[in-house]
Amino acid sequence: MNILGIESSCDETAAAVVKDGREVISSYVLSQIDTHALYGGVVPEIAARAHCEAIFQLTQKAVGDAGGLDNIDAVAVTYAPGLIGALLVGVNFAKSLALAADKPLIPVHHIRGHVAANYITHIKLTPPFVSLIVSGGHSHIVKVSDWCEYKILGRTRDDAAGEAFDKTARILGLGYPGGAKVEAMAKNGNKEALRFPRVNFEDNPFDFSFSGVKTSVINYIHSKEQKQEKYSKEDVAASFTEAVCEVLSTKAAEATLKNNTDTLVVAGGVAANSFLRDKLKKDCEKRKLSLFLPELKYCGDNAAMIAAQGFFEYKKGNVAKTDLNAYANMSIENPMF
Ligand code: KG4
Ligand code: ZN
Repeated sequence: MNILGIESSCDETAAAVVKDGREVISSYVLSQIDTHALYGGVVPEIAARAHCEAIFQLTQKAVGDAGGLDNIDAVAVTYAPGLIGALLVGVNFAKSLALAADKPLIPVHHIRGHVAANYITHIKLTPPFVSLIVSGGHSHIVKVSDWCEYKILGRTRDDAAGEAFDKTARILGLGYPGGAKVEAMAKNGNKEALRFPRVNFEDNPFDFSFSGVKTSVINYIHSKEQKQEKYSKEDVAASFTEAVCEVLSTKAAEATLKNNTDTLVVAGGVAANSFLRDKLKKDCEKRKLSLFLPELKYCGDNAAMIAAQGFFEYKKGNVAKTDLNAYANMSIENPMF
């Protein structure tokens, strides 16, 4: 079954065709990063307008590579969560296409899509497993008991991991988006130079908090600047990265052990971080867990992951009608459409 996936939840417009949830036939992603970088972050209205301009041509290319609309069996679209104006572009486009071409319309939760990026990279991977999801807007540890059965084990109580990277990048003068830039800077620093806080909660050991580490970085830099003392930005980047990655990796590995599975699956933009990938490998090896990481090109937003999850949603009967709406927020456990 060939599914066309459409993604427009934030600042990447994407279209892809994926066969049976596993095999990518085509995948196109158009990033708006250069435009938003001028403003230091994503400007929602500019994002929506840019999706409007790009979505038709990207879809035409993705469908063309698959041999035309006759070879497409269904249309899957990200309908939540995300920037509402941006989501509406993709949802309305997908609805019109599904109606005109008489194909089923499959609503896909964006974060479930991130997890499904792993079904493309690891073609034998099947639930159950525990997943660490680390993106710009979300940090979750979830138990995935089946393709469409999610239970949250832990979540961030303030900033998401990617958000913490982006804010730290701004403090370090690296611009937006900052995750990859902080990583590059961290490679030249000493991760043990500074000790930034690691937060644990008594009522849930798998919840996160990243606003404290971000505030510590701000306080450290302000104090150095006020005293006109020299400091190493590289050491700050490396020590910040170490603090965040240690917490993410340890909690994810422990959550996997405590939830009767030996498989940990990682997803989202921050999964591209090499320090996090290395730390996870070590923590999983120590605990004899199998670790699955998405290919770098499927860590960030793309439509192949939406088409992949779309296949499994379709098999469960999750098909939308033409009144499908978009939602800025939506539970990953019980998504409604
Ligand atoms: O999953 P994603 O592409 O979009 C959302 O759904 O949010 O994640 C984007 C986030 C941004 O915060 C970005 O800075 C972060 O992922 N990111 C990274 C790296 N590459 C992207 N964070 C740390 N290290 C990286 N190499
Ligand atoms: Zn995303």
